[in-house]
Amino acid sequence: MNVKACIFDLDGVIVDTAVYHFKSWKRLADELGINFTLHDNERLKGVSRMRSLEIVLEIGHQTKTEAEKQELATRKNEWYTEMISKMKPDEVLPGAREFLQQVKNAGIKTALGSASKNAGTILEKTGLIPFFDAIVDGNHVATAKPDPEVFLKGAEALKIEPANCVVFEDAIAGVEAALAGGMKVIGIGSGEILNKADLVVSGLDKMNIDKLNSL
Ligand code: BG6
Ligand code: MG
Repeated sequence: MNVKACIFDLDGVIVDTAVYHFKSWKRLADELGINFTLHDNERLKGVSRMRSLEIVLEIGHQTKTEAEKQELATRKNEWYTEMISKMKPDEVLPGAREFLQQVKNAGIKTALGSASKNAGTILEKTGLIPFFDAIVDGNHVATAKPDPEVFLKGAEALKIEPANCVVFEDAIAGVEAALAGGMKVIGIGSGEILNKADLVVSGLDKMNIDKLNSL
C-alpha cells in the first residue's frame, strides 16, 4: 500500500503507562473490596476511563450511581496523574522515538490517536510533542474505541485518506477501531491476542519503513 500517514496509540505503544493505569485501578478496586488482577487489566486497555471503571465494577458485581462513578473515576485519575507527573523521557518504549523519526524522515505524516485525556501531559513529560503533526486524544472524541472516531479525526487532521493510513495499536478495541475506519493496523504485542491486525510486532523496535511499505 501507499502509506501516507501513521497514527499511533499512546499507552502501550509509545509509553508503558499501562502499569500506572493498573496500579491506580488496583488501588481503587482494593478500596472497594474487588479482586482485580493483571489478567482483568487487559480488558481496560484502549477503553475510556468511565468504561474502565464500569468493567472494574462489573468484575466486583457492584453497582454505583452516576455521581458515585464520577467520584471514583476522579479518585483513580488523581493517583494516575500523580504518577505520570513524574514521567521522564527515558520511559518512552524501546525503538519508539527512533521509529517516529524514521517515519518523519520518509516524508510520512504522523498523528496520535489515543483514548486518554492525559495524553498531552505524557507527551510533554517524555518530550515527544515535536514528533506529531496532529494530536487527537480523549478530549477530542465523543465515542471510544472500538469506534473509529479517534483515528478518523487523526486522518482528517492530516488531510490523508483512511486507505493511506496505518494505525499502531496494542489493544483489541484499538485494532477493531482501525479496521472499522478502513485503515491497516499493526498490532504491538502478542499475535494471539491481536489476531485481527494486518501484522503484529512485539514493539516499535521491531519496525522499519520496509515493513510499513510491505503492507
Ligand atoms: C487508554 C488506555 O490509552 O486511555 C486505557 O489504554 C485508559 O487503559 C484510557 O482507560 C483513558 O485514559 P485516561 O488517561 O483518560 O484516564
Ligand atoms: Mg494502548
